[in-house]
Amino acid sequence: MSVQHFLTLLDLDAAALAKIIARAGELKKMQQRGEIYEPLKNRVLGMVFEKSSTRTRVSFETGMIQFGGNAIFLSPRDTQLGRGELIEDSARVLSRMLDVIMIRTFEHEKAELFAEYSQVPVINGLTDMYHPCQLLADVQTWVEHRGDIKGRTVCYIGDGNNMCHSYINAARQFDFKLRVATPKGYEPDTDILAAAGDRVVLTDDPFAAAEGADLVSTDVWASMGQEEEQVQRIQDFKGFCVTRELMALADRDALFMHCLPAHRGEEVEAEVIDGPQSVVWDEAENRLHAQKALLEFLLT
Ligand code: CP
Ligand code: NVA
Repeated sequence: MSVQHFLTLLDLDAAALAKIIARAGELKKMQQRGEIYEPLKNRVLGMVFEKSSTRTRVSFETGMIQFGGNAIFLSPRDTQLGRGELIEDSARVLSRMLDVIMIRTFEHEKAELFAEYSQVPVINGLTDMYHPCQLLADVQTWVEHRGDIKGRTVCYIGDGNNMCHSYINAARQFDFKLRVATPKGYEPDTDILAAAGDRVVLTDDPFAAAEGADLVSTDVWASMGQEEEQVQRIQDFKGFCVTRELMALADRDALFMHCLPAHRGEEVEAEVIDGPQSVVWDEAENRLHAQKALLEFLLT
């Protein structure tokens, strides 16, 4: 049987994803009750990070420790990966020792190549194209606050980046309507968008996108690896800040999410991210619970 990887939300079917979201909620309650639950005793997760991280690293590492296992942080700076050892060889070697591997890298193809040569599950901890683990946490957070997301209207404002692509895939898998508002020239990948059909609409008008939305989400304008474009992007994304005026157009019970890290005054106003509709801290915490559910699903 081939190994089950999690490189995008499309790697699992809708039923499996729904199961993971429900389980994430249960695991969160168990953790809050102080229940010891160690289904991954003696199992080891390897975490390959070619980009910085706070949430992804700490949530995976903590999750493995809570599950009775362990996690090893692998930076290219001090592994042979950083000195040019082939991805194929690294994947073959690491997967003979580890039980599961998380990779955060630039090109999505690199994660795919790694998975192809790995004999254990590979989890995408963010590539330039996708951030599927974040969407597990986002959907869990929605469910926790508002119930089923099916049929709801979600609005994503900002760059047509990894978060945007994962929101598009989530719209397919969790069956919600998605409105994406990006400035011209920053649209999401056309194939990813086309595959979602009429469930997803694209516009360059953030105010039209926000109208009546149940959830408003955004992300940084310059992602990791795009630091030198920061100044240009600040100009190009003018008008795409999630402000109180924009939130006022959404449904009165609308929630605000941001995968973090955030830049107050750029993609979101401080009054919104620190305001009553924001659930960003629950969203960040749920990375832990959602990924524990994912690890349990992939390994037990
Ligand atoms: N949201 C997210 O993935 O955060 P980190 O970059 O801190 O892991
Ligand atoms: N789009 C952002 C997400 C960070 C979690 C980036 O890739 O840097």
